[in-house]
Amino acid sequence: MKQEVIARLTRTEFIGKKIIIHQNIDSTNCEAKRQASHLEEGTVIISEVQTAGRGRLGREWASPAGKGIWQTIVLKPNLSPPKVPQLTLVAAAAVYLAVEKVDPNLGKILKIKWPNDIYLREKKAGGILTEMQVSADQVRWVVVGIGLNVNLTENDFPEDLRGKATSFLLETGRSYDRNIITAEIFNAFEPLYLEFLETGELGTSLEICRQHSAVIGRKVILSHGGSEKEAQVLDLGPQGELIIRLIEGDITSVVSGEVSLKVSDHTY
Ligand code: ATP
Ligand code: BTN
Repeated sequence: MKQEVIARLTRTEFIGKKIIIHQNIDSTNCEAKRQASHLEEGTVIISEVQTAGRGRLGREWASPAGKGIWQTIVLKPNLSPPKVPQLTLVAAAAVYLAVEKVDPNLGKILKIKWPNDIYLREKKAGGILTEMQVSADQVRWVVVGIGLNVNLTENDFPEDLRGKATSFLLETGRSYDRNIITAEIFNAFEPLYLEFLETGELGTSLEICRQHSAVIGRKVILSHGGSEKEAQVLDLGPQGELIIRLIEGDITSVVSGEVSLKVSDHTY
């Protein structure tokens, strides 16, 4: 990744105006959290490799060297803590817009699997991990980690992920300039973020997450603290919550929190 190339392509006021590129770090989210209190809003931590990349619920995130985008945006929004998880949808929408701009064909196969996964066709190609620090009921900072498998080949994935995970390269046969995708994520994220802060609504981000949803209309299994529920996904609600019909027929909604979701009507 090249600072000057990213800077040349970035057209934002504050997202990605300051970039810190590491060759090697445990996790860009961890580094962002360590530094957040003295970093300006919009600063982005990037690393070529992560030795302890993390997904939700403390799961491992494979982050081999030089082939992916492993980055974290530091934000200082004036939001109430319960609204912060919605920033995951803002980031997912920004990833969609960036990918679609770089390669419209890739945009056509990109799906957003609520709440935080980026799929290409039916395999996982990326994810978003949003974390925050709250004190006295006020959000001090938020870090939005974005991981994208850009130029990874089959051998770059740990064995247990092969068959489940994919990359931009594996789906299209071409490799992509990670600097361009990174800059386009910043360019897309900033207006979506400002819309969310200014209106209090997800607006465009929600529309994008709906349009490119991997789960709307599908049967899923929701897991939460060891219990599992089967449901049909009807829609995303205005706060980015999942609106579902339970197998018994009741319509209800779920917020992301600790919920994991598996699509159960795969036909492959
Ligand atoms: P799901 O379980 O459906 O993948 P989730 O959001 O519940 O989604 P996470 O908590 O995000 O899962 O954890 C990340 C998971 O993603 C890991 O358990 C692993 O299976 C998978 N994974 C790890 N690294 C990668 C990668 N580079 N690309 C794709 N998948 C990965
Ligand atoms: C998920 O699917 O659970 C989210 C994965 C998020 C991975 C990114 S890579 C950059 C940032 N640093 C991390 O340790 N995780 C996020």
